[in-house]
Amino acid sequence: MAERVLVIGSGGREHALAWKLAQSPHIQEVLVAPGNAGTANCGKISNSEVSVSNHSILAQFCKEHSVGLVLVGPEVPLAAGMVDDLQAVGVQCFGPSAKAAQLEASKSFSKAFMDRHGIPTANWCSFTDPQEACSYIRTASFPALVVKASGLAAGKGVIVAKDQEEACQAVLDIMKDKMFGSAGETVVVEELLEGEEVSCLCFSDGCTVSPMPPAQDHKRLQDGDLGPNTGGMGAYCPTPQVSQELLQQISETVLQKTVDGMKEEGAPYVGVLYAGLMLTKQGPKVLEFNCRFGDPECQVLMPLLKSDLYEVLQSTLQGKLASSAPVWHQDSSAVTVVMASPGYPGSYKKGVTITGLSQVEEMGVHVFHAGTALKEGGVVSSGGRVLTVTAVRSSLEMALHAANRGVAAVGFLGAVYRRDIGHRAITHLTQHRV
Ligand code: AMP
Ligand code: GLY
Repeated sequence: MAERVLVIGSGGREHALAWKLAQSPHIQEVLVAPGNAGTANCGKISNSEVSVSNHSILAQFCKEHSVGLVLVGPEVPLAAGMVDDLQAVGVQCFGPSAKAAQLEASKSFSKAFMDRHGIPTANWCSFTDPQEACSYIRTASFPALVVKASGLAAGKGVIVAKDQEEACQAVLDIMKDKMFGSAGETVVVEELLEGEEVSCLCFSDGCTVSPMPPAQDHKRLQDGDLGPNTGGMGAYCPTPQVSQELLQQISETVLQKTVDGMKEEGAPYVGVLYAGLMLTKQGPKVLEFNCRFGDPECQVLMPLLKSDLYEVLQSTLQGKLASSAPVWHQDSSAVTVVMASPGYPGSYKKGVTITGLSQVEEMGVHVFHAGTALKEGGVVSSGGRVLTVTAVRSSLEMALHAANRGVAAVGFLGAVYRRDIGHRAITHLTQHRV
């Protein structure tokens, strides 16, 4: 029997997940709650107004509408126990339990966990007292210059300081001025790592991990990796800087070790595990774990997944990854460029008309919507990150070119986007090409 599935979330990631699920012959209908203009009435995909914050209402909705599977996109509902609550009443739900989601929801938990299991990460210490944090910053034997709110802060709770003074100021901003609200009640002060950042994700069924191709996000707002940190301004996949051997090493020393450790600690990790890594001279070290697909990494991973996503989710939930690992397109590269509202990541205007959406599809470039809404038959901006313009081609250079052409064809007044997505890969390829 064909299934009805429900995707929770409203970003580009959730549009990409819904788009991929809709291609499955097992699936009759994909509902997205709350969704965006891209997931409203598009073939098998439509939006649902069901409340996602009240888990009993959500469970009842799933039962009444015969929803066979719920796929949770963002971290907040995972940390709030959506998977636990739905599964407790017999609704199949994909993602880690609240206990397992602590790997993302509590940086102090995740750092202590990594130390317990010998998973490589930056030296660190956590504090609930700002004075103690500042004394540590002044006396640590390494540059303790990264200050992080321990709790969830929408990817913005990290301050990379240029000196000790700035690091101490960051502690005060987070703990005294509550710049990230209650997420900053505990802070993690950490060694500054140098190197290149990559995102290595895997499916985990609680025992077996199945790594996805490596991706790279671009966290800073402006070209040249300048400006403030954002949720991510663009991504590409695969990342040529991560060789098969390095991916294997990351899979063994980070991903598998984490899943083994969580199992040992009585919180088996089932879902997507995302390791944000710094490739340092001493080898890959974990910057953070996320308990979900990355956004915008998901928008480059889904077009490269050859397997049926619904089947992959089922194998993961049923503990069968060892016998049925997902298959990826080996001969393609994907690039996504984020178009954001002017003012993002600060405050921004909403309701700006978006044009060129059908022209861009004709170019063989796909737009996954993020902060968009329907208004009087047109599409308008309704969030910080508005569109993710995605191209898949047989080489990274071709995918970059196509995505950039797509960005030139679609748009809205004042759109902010980077013109140098993939620059590190291009440098790497130029240096390593014979
Ligand atoms: P996180 O949310 O922990 O990944 O941190 C957000 C961003 O801050 C990362 O993507 C890095 O660019 C930067 N960052 C975090 N931790 C460190 C570190 N220990 N050293 C250098 N940069 C870091
Ligand atoms: N792209 C970074 C994240 O999803 O957290």
